[in-house]
Amino acid sequence: MHLPSPLTALLTLTFSLPHVLAADKPYSTWMTDSFITRGVPPTRWYTEATLYRGIEAVANHTALPNYFAFLNTSLSSTLTPSGLFRDQWSPTDLQLDHIRIGSTLLYLYTATSSPVYRTAIDFLHSSLTTQYKRTASGGFWHKSPKYPNQMWLDGLFMAMPFYAGYTSLFQPGNTTAWDDILLQFSLVESHCRDAKTGMLRHGFDESKRAVWADAVTGASPLVWIRAQGWYIMALVGVLEWFPREHRGYGMLKGWFLELAKALKREQDGESGGWWLVMGEEYVGRKENYIESSGTAMNTYGLLRGLRNGLFAGTGEEELYLGVARRAYEGMVERFVARNGTGGTLNWEGTVRVGSLDGNGDYKYYTGVPVVENSHIGAGPFILASVEMERANLCGSNRC
Ligand SMILES: *[C@@H]1O[C@H](CO)[C@@H](O)[C@H](O)[C@H]1NC(C)=O
Ligand SMILES: *[C@@H]1O[C@H](CO)[C@@H](O)[C@H](O)[C@H]1NC(C)=O
Ligand SMILES: *[C@@H]1O[C@H](CO)[C@@H](O)[C@H](O)[C@H]1NC(C)=O
Ligand SMILES: *[C@@H]1O[C@H](CO)[C@@H](O)[C@H](O)[C@H]1NC(C)=O
Repeated sequence: MHLPSPLTALLTLTFSLPHVLAADKPYSTWMTDSFITRGVPPTRWYTEATLYRGIEAVANHTALPNYFAFLNTSLSSTLTPSGLFRDQWSPTDLQLDHIRIGSTLLYLYTATSSPVYRTAIDFLHSSLTTQYKRTASGGFWHKSPKYPNQMWLDGLFMAMPFYAGYTSLFQPGNTTAWDDILLQFSLVESHCRDAKTGMLRHGFDESKRAVWADAVTGASPLVWIRAQGWYIMALVGVLEWFPREHRGYGMLKGWFLELAKALKREQDGESGGWWLVMGEEYVGRKENYIESSGTAMNTYGLLRGLRNGLFAGTGEEELYLGVARRAYEGMVERFVARNGTGGTLNWEGTVRVGSLDGNGDYKYYTGVPVVENSHIGAGPFILASVEMERANLCGSNRC
């Protein structure tokens, strides 16, 4: 066996220093730095916006200027000096995905008071509230003209935290707006929540015309993990801003708690994660698997709910802390790969998309490819990591 001389050892140490430093970092910053090093295209699209949200949490938590600067630089390059989006979409392309970037813009506007950001924010808010199409009951269509009368859980995450943040910052007394935000959630609740399992189907069609629409509820047939993930993140994102004295606060909190209970029951005993297609009859089937983005979103949602006191008075905080911690530890083991170049981390196991464009069946969801380094998986993992650190849950295991 070849033993290194002291000099070789010294050189090795010197040359591997970035790796040593990387391994000393908590996963939140290590994963963030890995993505920044590999390069994140500066877009306004919801996939990047979901990663930006994680980076925002790191910027808040560490107070290190480089993370704020990264977001500020990325976002300013998506806008013209007068606050218009450089890749402006057509006025008839009204999809909720366009709104997601609004949350990052609100964060940057609050920090900079820049009129450039304010213009973009006002544009998004005014398009949403005056141009976007609604169902007869007042629910936002997920995407017009493509998906008429359909609401998907995804859309609540895309638009409602922004709508709530905007209302809280600029029109806090606007009861009509708070009622409107509440309405979006109550429509989804009444059509998509399965009373028996407590889980929510991916979406519904109020006109019941979609091939997948249930004849009574209009709901799509299956429970898709990432839809639960988007939904729990929408709930905690809106509850951050929602006025406690409004009757909706308790309703939103109640819906969050019901979902938390379902997630506790559905958590996979072995991995601590959740299955791509959830529900008794699908768990453990050959094509089905533990999916990383939905697992990260659910973990973050539970941890964020704990921090924001949503479990207060239930006597079950410890129980849910246990659920979240098991999920987090399993996720690190399964989905955080230390095989990136230059000591970076890769994020594994995220299903590329999930849409109600087809028939929304098991074969469809399980047939979508799984990809590496998805921004919609890594962003929520970073969010969950920051929550683990904030709650001092890392213990002897690193996080
Ligand atoms: C970062 O801090 C701002 C200001 O306190 C807050 O509104 C925002 O929600 C925080 N971001 C995250 C991701 O927690
Ligand atoms: C944010 O970016 C803009 C445009 O690049 C720059 O002018 C401004 O100084 C930055 N703000 C901060 C607080 O760094
Ligand atoms: C209140 O919010 C509603 C719905 O977003 C909007 O139509 C209305 O213009 C707002 N009113 C005020 C006074 O800002
Ligand atoms: C990193 O390792 C994981 C398994 O942990 C593997 O799935 C993935 O393909 C690897 N990625 C690269 C870039 O080597």
